[in-house]
Amino acid sequence: MKRTKIIDLLQRTDFGAEVTVMGWVRTKRGSKAVNFIALNDGSTIKNVQIVADVEKFDEDLFKDITTGACLKVVGTMVESIGSGQAVEVQAKEIEVLGTCPADYPMQKKGQSFEYMRQYAHMRLRTNTFGAVMRIRHNMAMAIHTYFHQHGYYYFNTPLITASDCEGAGNMFQVTTKNLYDLKKDENGKIIYDDDFFGEQTSLTVSGQLEGELGATALGAIYTFGPTFRAENSNTPRHLAEFWMIEPEIAFLDQEELMDLEEDFIKYCVRWALDNCKDDLEFLNKMIDKGLIERLEGVLKDDFVRLPYTKGIEILQQAIKDGKKFEFPCNWGDDLASEHERYLVEEYFKKPVIMTDYPRAFKSFYMKQNQDTTDGGSVGYKGAVAPGPTMQGTDVLFPQIGEIIGGSVREENYDKLMNEIKRRDMDMTHLWWYIDTRKFGSCPHAGFGLGFERLILFVTGMQNIRDVIPFPRTPKSAEF
Ligand code: 4AD
Ligand code: MG
Repeated sequence: MKRTKIIDLLQRTDFGAEVTVMGWVRTKRGSKAVNFIALNDGSTIKNVQIVADVEKFDEDLFKDITTGACLKVVGTMVESIGSGQAVEVQAKEIEVLGTCPADYPMQKKGQSFEYMRQYAHMRLRTNTFGAVMRIRHNMAMAIHTYFHQHGYYYFNTPLITASDCEGAGNMFQVTTKNLYDLKKDENGKIIYDDDFFGEQTSLTVSGQLEGELGATALGAIYTFGPTFRAENSNTPRHLAEFWMIEPEIAFLDQEELMDLEEDFIKYCVRWALDNCKDDLEFLNKMIDKGLIERLEGVLKDDFVRLPYTKGIEILQQAIKDGKKFEFPCNWGDDLASEHERYLVEEYFKKPVIMTDYPRAFKSFYMKQNQDTTDGGSVGYKGAVAPGPTMQGTDVLFPQIGEIIGGSVREENYDKLMNEIKRRDMDMTHLWWYIDTRKFGSCPHAGFGLGFERLILFVTGMQNIRDVIPFPRTPKSAEF
């Protein structure tokens, strides 16, 4: 007989029907006369209760029905009174498809997430990871649906690349060279002529530069794929391999970019509330009591739109009023996550879109604001900054900090080239990018959303290692 998924079974009301369910045992309890088995098949957070009259089965069978064991049950669907669900299954046949001995690492309830990370191959079977993974899937669906409905084309950018988009140099090299026998030139530099691609290549840190090629041809594109960063950041917010969503849009200005960032995130959060109710309720109860309220809160308010210079003023006022930060925050400093969180969680108590960052620590491709004669610049809504700024436009979120990094792009050929020269960047691998500013250049903008940071926010999980099935972090590439 065809298997019924538990998610479908729990919706049915044709009591008396014969059904087949398969899944893993969560718990078993019972008496001499009857056993109650909670079975889960991953289709939903909910279990179905299997009722097994002991006398109908071989006694030894029940010894094998332990937490984690895999069962096939054929039985009758009956209306339940006590199980917390409307439906339960009165078992007629039980087959143990896979036994599960006592050293099953997920046997005990309430294990720490650190413990479970050591068993990433088994932790997926727990309630929490089931919920997180189903929400992760739903967020991917939300993202594709949003962009498809808004006329964006899904555009695939290469993972292996010879250019460094963010210019930060934290890339993983890709090579087929024999590392024990590297040929070097007279200056000691490695020769790549005989490498697979004939030049030095790495895993991409961002698909943006190629995404811009798509946007300046198709009008609006988005990417959704893995990105790689060899930064030695051991934090609950960083992965060495993470998924990024990068929309890129022609003819979009700074205000419209902010509108898009806000609308897009709200759409994803709303999707979760509409489509992941059971899993969110579970997480709200077990992991983070404020989760659903926080998600609904994000939908209610407009995000704050704040020039960096204003943000610094607020932070300095806070320091004057006695607030203590670990890191300095003078104009020109990159904000630390404590600063971002102060603005979002304590000062505004809502998400903040920060814009017009100092040129010194943002990427070369961002649109430069108009300089003033005294060395300052004029940015968003005429706000004046004491130094040169760019139209970098990031979204800062409660609990997370930076969830989106975006910007309007510098479309002016001369300004872009000046910035590249100022930074002394190697242009050999960027000639094609510069061509977009030479041939029919157009204003355009885009952003990158860290997929796992979105999942962190939507699930209330605390550590980014626990919202991706198999995390890659410094000194850790198991599974
Ligand atoms: O701010 P980032 O570095 O921006 C870019 O890469 C741009 N090229 C994006 C664009 O404009 N198309 O990264 C974008 C986002 C961050 O806001 C963060 O959410 C996430 O990617 N992110 C990471 N997530 C997990 N682990 C890491 N190591 C991350 N680094 C960035
Ligand atoms: Mg960033």
